Amino acid sequence: MTVPAIPTVTLNNGVLMPQLGCGMFRVPDAYEVVLSAVHTGYRLIDTARSYGNEAEIGGAIRDCGLDPASLFVTTKLANSDQGYDSALQAFDRSLELLGLPVIDLYLIHWPVPARDRYLDTWRALEQIYRSGRARAVGVCNFTIEHLDRLADNSDLVPAVNQIELHPGYPQTALRSRHAALGIITEAWSPLGRGSALLDRAEVLALARQTGRTPAQTVLRWHLDQGHVVIPKSGNGRRLRSNFDVFDFSLDDTQRSVLDALKEPGRVGPDPLVFAEH
Ligand code: A2P
Repeated sequence: MTVPAIPTVTLNNGVLMPQLGCGMFRVPDAYEVVLSAVHTGYRLIDTARSYGNEAEIGGAIRDCGLDPASLFVTTKLANSDQGYDSALQAFDRSLELLGLPVIDLYLIHWPVPARDRYLDTWRALEQIYRSGRARAVGVCNFTIEHLDRLADNSDLVPAVNQIELHPGYPQTALRSRHAALGIITEAWSPLGRGSALLDRAEVLALARQTGRTPAQTVLRWHLDQGHVVIPKSGNGRRLRSNFDVFDFSLDDTQRSVLDALKEPGRVGPDPLVFAEH
C-alpha cells in the first residue's frame, strides 16, 4: 500500500517517533479501527492498560499485514499498578496482551500525587528500559513539579510527557519546561474532544481561510510546533481526513489566531486529583 511519509520526531535517546498517531481511548471496535488506521497510513498506535483494548489491538497488529516492527506502539501503566513490583508485572501483562516482545514507548499514565508512588514506578520503568523491552519510557499528565521531582531523583529523563493539549488549553509553561529538559510534548485530545473547540467561530473562520477542515487546521497548529498528536476517531472518514495534514502549514498570523483562543480550556481530568483506574 502507498501511504504518505509521516514526519517523525527524535526522542532524547535517538529513537524516531511518528508525529501523528491514532489514539485508542474509548474507541469502539478497536480491532477494526487499528486495521483501518494502518491501512490509511497511521504507524503510531496509542493505547493504555486502562482502555481495556490491548488484546484487540494486539490482534489487529498481528492481522494487519505489516511487520510489527514498522509500527510504533505506545501503552501506559494503569494507576492501580503504580509501585515498583506491580509496575514490572503490569508491563509484562501489557506485552502479553499486545503480543509484542518489545514496546516502543511505555508511559506512566497519571502521576496520582495523593498516593505518591510515581518515583518507585519510575524506577521500574528505568529497569524495563535498561532491559531493552521498551525502546523508550516516559510519563503522561505530569506537571512541572512532578517532572522536576523526577529529575531530582533519576538520571533517566522521560522521552515524552503526554498531556492534554490543544489551542484552547495551550500549557505554555509546561511545554517550555519540556523543551528545557529534552522531553517531547505529546498531545492527547489534540482536537479538544471535537465540537467544543472545532465549532468555535475563530476556528471555523480560520479553516475557511486554509481551505482545510477545522480538525486539519488544529492538527497543523500542533505539527508546526513539533508536538506528537494522537487524535482519535471511530469514524473511518474522519480517521482518513485527520491523516491528510502533511501538505500545508499555518503562517504566523494564522497560528496566532489559535494561540489567542482562551476556550474551551481543559476538557479532561485534572492530573493533580485524577486517581481512577
Ligand atoms: P468521532 O469518533 O465520532 O470521529 P480528541 O482526540 O481531541 O479527544 O477528539 C476526539 C473527538 O473528536 C471524538 O469525539 C471524535 O469523534 C471527534 N473527532 C475526531 N476527528 C474529528 C474530525 N476530523 N472532525 C470532527 N470531530 C472529530
